[in-house]
Amino acid sequence: EKGGYDTFMEKEIHEQPHAVGDTLLGRTKEDGELVLDELRISEEQLTNIDRITIVACGTAAYAGTVAKYAIEHWTRIPVEVSLAHEFRYSDPIVNERTLVVSISQSGETMDTLMAVKHATELGALTLSICNTHGSTIPRESDAVLYTHAGPEIAVASTKAFLAQITASYILGLYLAQLRGGTYADDAKAVMRELHEMPAKIEELLGTMDRVKEIARFMADTRSVLFLGRNVGFPIAMEGALKLKELAYIHAEGFAAGELKHGPIALIEPGQPVFIVVPGPDTPHELHKKVVSNIQEIRARGARTLVIAEEGDEDVVPFADEVIRVPKSSPLLQPLLTVVPLQVFALHLSTAKGLDVDQPRNLAKSVTVE
Ligand code: F6R
Repeated sequence: EKGGYDTFMEKEIHEQPHAVGDTLLGRTKEDGELVLDELRISEEQLTNIDRITIVACGTAAYAGTVAKYAIEHWTRIPVEVSLAHEFRYSDPIVNERTLVVSISQSGETMDTLMAVKHATELGALTLSICNTHGSTIPRESDAVLYTHAGPEIAVASTKAFLAQITASYILGLYLAQLRGGTYADDAKAVMRELHEMPAKIEELLGTMDRVKEIARFMADTRSVLFLGRNVGFPIAMEGALKLKELAYIHAEGFAAGELKHGPIALIEPGQPVFIVVPGPDTPHELHKKVVSNIQEIRARGARTLVIAEEGDEDVVPFADEVIRVPKSSPLLQPLLTVVPLQVFALHLSTAKGLDVDQPRNLAKSVTVE
């Protein structure tokens, strides 16, 4: 049942190229135009929306944060991400022109379900990105876009996360297509690149030996920090969450730009820090800025574990370890950069002799508020 792997989580990490590929499947015509007949929501309704609020919890909320950067860039529609339990008990600004997008692997998370019901009461259009057919959240929503990751057994989410990011890209690109003009042309180009991602993830999975080794050496580590910017920020958060859940190690993710506003005080000799580096072509010189963050923390003695694109030599002088990912356009990079962080958490957990698939105190689907 574990297909030759020791744990479900390891198996599911290796199923990620399929999770992405299958989620893309059947959603484009030959020329790259998206067709989402399955949505149960009319083009007219979607064209009318003037704001998007994403509601989700945990890993799914990090997928939502990646989505925010991408959808805003592709469509110029304002996107907000709200933790479902916070959304539910606040006064959200939501009306009939708001699309409330919930993201949930199980489709049964009570916090997310309550947020969707609340959004419906407020008159919003609701769309569910979900991995489980026939589950409650899609049934309670106006529209559904299924992820096709297949059943996820390990408590910690991996392949569902990649599928959620993929589905939210599809949604963003579909909205861009509806807007027409250059938005639609850009959407086609991104779709073409998305189809190359499964092969890149596969290639990356074949290069994880050093990451596993680093994890094994770090079994006694008490705290790990994760830094990223833009779409790398939620990936840093996700890397930290995976480590907390699986290895019971104190871990925190930060937006790299926040460092000097406080967290840099945590840096002391030997402190391990993962840094997710945007590709050199990322707008706003973000690559250069993150490289200088690495330089700053290294100067204070941090042990820098750098996730950078192939060919990015700028990071080398300041990196204790460089973990390479294939090149991609900046907004698609999360589908790659999260992989070594998942592998790291899995192998650190194993090195500590912990139960990877069933971490303590956690349940696969949280059906209470
Ligand atoms: C983390 C994890 C949780 C879930 C969260 C939402 O590895 O599994 O953070 O992502 O509980 O669950 P779903 O997606 O089922 O709503």
